[in-house]
Amino acid sequence: MQIIKTKAELAALSSSWQKEGQTIGFVPTMGALHAGHLSLINALDGKASRRIVSIFVNPIQFNNTSDFQHYPRGLEDDATLLHNTGKVDVLYAPDESQMYTPGFATRISVSGLDSMLCGEDRPGHFDGVATVVTKLFLQTRANIAAFGEKDYQQLCLIKRMVQDLDLSVNILPVPTLREADGLALSSRNRRLTPEQRQQAALLPQALKACLAAIQNGTSVESSLVTCREALKKAGFHVHYLELRHAENLAPAPIAGKDTRLFVAASLGDIRLIDNMPFA
Ligand code: PAF
Repeated sequence: MQIIKTKAELAALSSSWQKEGQTIGFVPTMGALHAGHLSLINALDGKASRRIVSIFVNPIQFNNTSDFQHYPRGLEDDATLLHNTGKVDVLYAPDESQMYTPGFATRISVSGLDSMLCGEDRPGHFDGVATVVTKLFLQTRANIAAFGEKDYQQLCLIKRMVQDLDLSVNILPVPTLREADGLALSSRNRRLTPEQRQQAALLPQALKACLAAIQNGTSVESSLVTCREALKKAGFHVHYLELRHAENLAPAPIAGKDTRLFVAASLGDIRLIDNMPFA
């Protein structure tokens, strides 16, 4: 596995791969890698002949300086983990000056999808994501890129953007990987205290209970109210808990197989998100 830090070096390698007819698979990350990221790499098995993983903690997608500062970082451990998979050809780890040259002024905005759910209390977050992901697609020349369903809104937004901008990259959605107690894997889980880690397991349990209540005939609205109350009682600050259409994330007053339950809830200053399909 090569570690590449400049976009010029990456461009030279990716264009040589393109000329050879290789299929370039790409997994964008912000590091602090865990088994969930490895499942994205594995999802490219048989779909890509070359694999690039990027690690870049993207400052423009953080609307909170402290969140950016505290985001877990550990390039050496991440590089070892990636190397040990035996599947990654390149770890692309640019620094900020490679990504944002002085005077950088462009933002990509996916209207509508960027201002609901997580976009509501994280203004600018999804513009930052869309902008950096577009840059990474162009820099890597990826043919296929894997995104986790854990960040379902991000996945929808990237799919919309790829379609709208005629980007020639296929987006591969990958199901959420969970701990034994159901907690969705996330780099942020590392910041939970042991007590918060125990509390955090209540989040997926609450989602399951809410979906079961709807399935058993309780109205969507009252199931959501009960679930919000349960989460508050368990110590969460609930940012949102909503049933939405899976395709366009529009509010879903009635549950159906194309709907999904979405939650964002914080324990202390650690914001957790999760989502599950109604099926
Ligand atoms: O999901 C993430 O880790 C980030 O939002 C991404 C896609 C790497 C862009 O910075």
